[in-house]
Amino acid sequence: MADLTSSPAHVLIFPFPVQGHMNSMFKLTELLCLSGIHVTYLVTVQNHTRLLQNTDVVSKYTKYPGFCFQMLPESVSAGNALSIDMILNYYESLKTAKTFLRDLLIREGKTKTVTCLITDGLMKFTLDVGEETGVPVIYFRTASACSFWAYFCADRVIEAGECPFKDDMDLPIRSIPGMEGFLRQRDLPSMFRAHDLNYSAFKMVVTETHQTVRAHALILNTFEDLEGSTLSQIRTQIPTIYTIGPLHAHLRVQAQLETTSSVLASSNSLWKEDRSCIKWLEDQPLKSVVYVSFGSLAIVTKEQLMEFWHGLVNSGYRFLWVIRPDSVTDMEGGREFSVELEEGTKARGYMVKWAPQEEVLAHPAIGGFLTHSGWNSTLESIHEGVPMICWPQSADQQINSRFVEEIWKLGLDIKDTCNRVIIEKAVRDLMEGRKEEFAISAKEMAALARKAVNDGGASRCNLNKLIEDIQLMNV
Ligand code: UDX
Repeated sequence: MADLTSSPAHVLIFPFPVQGHMNSMFKLTELLCLSGIHVTYLVTVQNHTRLLQNTDVVSKYTKYPGFCFQMLPESVSAGNALSIDMILNYYESLKTAKTFLRDLLIREGKTKTVTCLITDGLMKFTLDVGEETGVPVIYFRTASACSFWAYFCADRVIEAGECPFKDDMDLPIRSIPGMEGFLRQRDLPSMFRAHDLNYSAFKMVVTETHQTVRAHALILNTFEDLEGSTLSQIRTQIPTIYTIGPLHAHLRVQAQLETTSSVLASSNSLWKEDRSCIKWLEDQPLKSVVYVSFGSLAIVTKEQLMEFWHGLVNSGYRFLWVIRPDSVTDMEGGREFSVELEEGTKARGYMVKWAPQEEVLAHPAIGGFLTHSGWNSTLESIHEGVPMICWPQSADQQINSRFVEEIWKLGLDIKDTCNRVIIEKAVRDLMEGRKEEFAISAKEMAALARKAVNDGGASRCNLNKLIEDIQLMNV
């Protein structure tokens, strides 16, 4: 790494090493690189290997001379993080990178090599290293502002006796400022569901969230017109927030300016994308297809898979479904399906292991999205004006889906149910019964998302301000 005796600024980006977090950090990386800032992106050994197998990633980043990957020590394990326990293991192993990080920032114990750190807002040890070395740390929390605020207010929720939950998860939550009146217990991020408040994942996220006040600033992948009222609550505690989302949309604007589709088509996937689904979409009528994907971490049981499958086939609508090979449990010996299911799928369905999701959601054949309400997926859907059926599984997804239905009116929240009749009805409601109503609000919100990232838009201005502030740190 170069000394900082001369410009340009040099940022070290340290994401939590799972796809959803890495994606938004990669988008920010590209935007910083486009502004001339040098970026080093920290990656685990396993994820580096997986990324390099994806030729798009290689060609994309080699075009930025100021970009490089830096591998973390092997002690930071990036197995397949498919459960909360495994994510906690990651979390623990990440801490072993503390000395390594300190040595990266300060050469021979004195010369700073980095202008600032942008680290995932779940890694307080990076704040310790920043304080020790005098390198400013900007936290980037990749989930929604509403989930961040809910975790921030966890102590109030506990003091008010609203957590741990009793039996009725429909009881209202009144102790989170700004969310009184529409939030139920079941809508809190999943970790609140633990009956034991010492549950390590809950403690981890709440503790980490409170540490945000120590960071130089906070970056959120959201936009003011979407989460303005929650953001004004967060600003009472954390004054410097850069709301710069939807991050992927800045790159769309950039691609249009360059009149090239290279940015749009490029991917940061840890899985190989199956582009045959785009070809299949080309043959489908306008807004006729339901896209189904549960992100990079969610796991479904065989029973749940069958409920979704029957619900989709019975709805009579076309569907494109991403089923990651590692995402279904108890599949052994159980691959015989009914004739109706086989025929309905052959006639109207298409399945892939991993899709180029941004491109899929932007395709004119897509009419709805059955999603797990991961934050990236939610923003990608909002930006394309695609209404959603939300089936949240974990983390921030429960609160995101409540906002989608109740506040933004962008779709239906079917959390805590998995039944073919409900799924069939939800698909029909989304694609026909309530189609017009959702189309209006989805179009309006998509316009606001686009406005945010275009010239003069709030997210664009905030991104420019972030870039300026980083450059000023370098002087
Ligand atoms: C997780 C959490 O679920 C999410 O709520 C949190 O905010 C970030 O980390 P994940 O569950 O993977 O991420 O969901 P999501 O945030 O939606 O991210 C998935 C990403 O993978 C999206 O950017 C999506 O475009 C991409 N994807 C998904 C693909 O490119 N292809 C696919 O087939 C499926």
